[in-house]
Amino acid sequence: MQTAFLDSSNIDKAAEYLKSGEVVAFPTETVYGLGADATNEEAVRKIFEAKGRPSDNPLIIHVASVKQMERYVESVPDVARKVISHFWPGPCTLVLNKKGPIASSVTGGMETIGVRMPSHPVALALIDKVGVPLAAPSANSSGKPSPTTALHVKRDLEGKIKAIVDGGATGVGLESTVLDLTDPQKPTILRPGGVTREELEAVLGHVWLDAHLSDDSAAPKSPGMKYKHYSPEKPVWVLPESLAEAKEILDQLEVEGENVGLLASEDWLKHLKTDRRKNCSLGDKNRPQQAAARLFSALRELDDEDISVILVEPYQKTGIGTAYMNRLEKAASRIL
Ligand code: TXA
Ligand code: MG
Repeated sequence: MQTAFLDSSNIDKAAEYLKSGEVVAFPTETVYGLGADATNEEAVRKIFEAKGRPSDNPLIIHVASVKQMERYVESVPDVARKVISHFWPGPCTLVLNKKGPIASSVTGGMETIGVRMPSHPVALALIDKVGVPLAAPSANSSGKPSPTTALHVKRDLEGKIKAIVDGGATGVGLESTVLDLTDPQKPTILRPGGVTREELEAVLGHVWLDAHLSDDSAAPKSPGMKYKHYSPEKPVWVLPESLAEAKEILDQLEVEGENVGLLASEDWLKHLKTDRRKNCSLGDKNRPQQAAARLFSALRELDDEDISVILVEPYQKTGIGTAYMNRLEKAASRIL
């Protein structure tokens, strides 16, 4: 299949493709999504095919308004209204009981559905034009880091999808928070993401974490969280928190003849940068949202370099650092 490259002035064309049952990649504020008409079984099946995604991993649907969402969920509890009024449009996916004519492969046989209203103007315009929700996972090949530019999508999916709408680099850089509200008394984060637990707690009071996020042996409630994910071809190792220990490890690896790719904050790079290493910056250590925005793109960049291993700086597991560490630990084969 020939993949068309569209810019954001060509949303009409993209909408036409989607209405005719094709899949189209489009930008959101988190990562690029691979969209299809969520009410069209055949169209949704093409998403799974293009990505090589396991069929037991449900998709989230993207809506352009709360009114549109209401057609596809059984009810909207007060707790959901609160989240919506503070964080929509934005990077927070709500899991609610489903209703209405959604293709069964979207939810993979579950009684619940994940729904979010993205804030990216291209995404909103596109959903609005198509007139139905778009089912969309991240637009990467299954297992690869999520795409934050149209070029990443092209690398993974060219020839397998109808079109890519280029809206520039995404802002948040990692995916939405998945928040389970099926028990309104117990809002539970299934996947940490763009809206932090702290931000949610400021609005809702206590917010639970799905057991698997703190206990490796617990089965995740979000099917997608059980898969190894986000991995480049090269092995990814997470450095220890201490700069001195990290330096020792890096130096030792190079004595042993490894070609090291280093992904770290400006603060760490000041101490750890050498000409031999491929260095890639995560930005200001005090601004973890920069690290979150750069992680996936930097992993892809280092993957293309002539190196044998990618070493990455850990961040504190608070605020957006929680989502950063969740993705990093999933990408990693070793935590040093
Ligand atoms: O930011 C994002 O969420 C991006 C952009 C494109 O919107 N999308 C995204 O989709 O990350 P995907 O399919 O890569 O991840 C969706 C996650 C998966 O872990 C999936 O298992 C979970 O949400 N999920 C979807 N529906 C669910 C449901 N009904 N119950 C529990 N988890 C669900
Ligand atoms: Mg994904």
